[in-house]
Amino acid sequence: MTNIENKVAIVTGAGSGIGRETSIQLAEKGVRVAVVDLSVEGGNETVSLIKEAGFEAFFIQADVGSREDVKHYVEKTVDTYGTIDMFFNNAGIEGAVSPLAEYPEDIFEKVIDINLKGAFYGMKYVLQVMLENGGGSIVNTASNAGLVGSPGVSPYAATKHGVIGLTKTATGEYASQGIRVNAIAPGPTATGMMDRFTQGSEEAKKAVESGIPAGRYGTAKEVASLVVFLLGDEANIINGAVYPIDGGLTSL
Ligand SMILES: NC(=O)c1ccc[n+]([C@@H]2O[C@H](COP(=O)([O-])OP(=O)(O)OC[C@H]3O[C@@H](n4cnc5c(N)ncnc54)[C@H](O)[C@@H]3O)[C@@H](O)[C@H]2O)c1
Repeated sequence: MTNIENKVAIVTGAGSGIGRETSIQLAEKGVRVAVVDLSVEGGNETVSLIKEAGFEAFFIQADVGSREDVKHYVEKTVDTYGTIDMFFNNAGIEGAVSPLAEYPEDIFEKVIDINLKGAFYGMKYVLQVMLENGGGSIVNTASNAGLVGSPGVSPYAATKHGVIGLTKTATGEYASQGIRVNAIAPGPTATGMMDRFTQGSEEAKKAVESGIPAGRYGTAKEVASLVVFLLGDEANIINGAVYPIDGGLTSL
């Protein structure tokens, strides 16, 4: 087992879904977790779940699309826990569902701001701390939509392809300085995001599941386990990789 006890992690989008579950699994292994989310309610709930189980975390509200907010969550984590060993750069939104020719431009820009600029700002300011401290590990959340086209969600697909570009580029820039950068590419995963996509319709969910070789959504727990592995020392030789976790969806 990797010993990551007493390490420090930042998790963005930690107020629900994949980010919450990863925060919990990290905390259970003794990691001190900075829980970052736009939602005060979601973020505080994640911290409560962790603290009630006897582990350590604190909440920082931030919009990851704001450079100032990102600088703030990085500084606040270093002030509170002294360093940053691990970074799960995960917050993201789905945007609207519409063909490209009709896609609302304001929503296109919002998806770019949060999913792509947010991922970039997070990497930029966390990398500065990791470089000073001599190493670290980053996992970025891409998507199956970062590997193949996704009709109806053009900016989402564009940003997730972009996250993979940032991942691979940063690997070449920082591997020699003890920093690993990997990405995960989840397929449909049972979180609020998929509920919004399918608008709570069981029929729509079944239609999505029928296109997945495994025949079902992934769970946030399954995705979190992969992230915890990639963040830890057992994955030390893994760098610049993009892991589909999608029940075989992108193998077709
Ligand atoms: N659920 C899926 O099927 C799926 C598939 C592939 C990739 N992903 C990706 O996984 C990541 C996590 O999504 P999830 O499925 O857990 O969804 P979710 O909606 O449950 O969680 C997203 C979290 O991000 C937070 N957030 C949204 N905008 C933010 C902002 N500007 N600043 C800070 N926090 C913000 C939300 O408040 C929420 O807590 C996203 O990047 C998403 O694109 C999800």
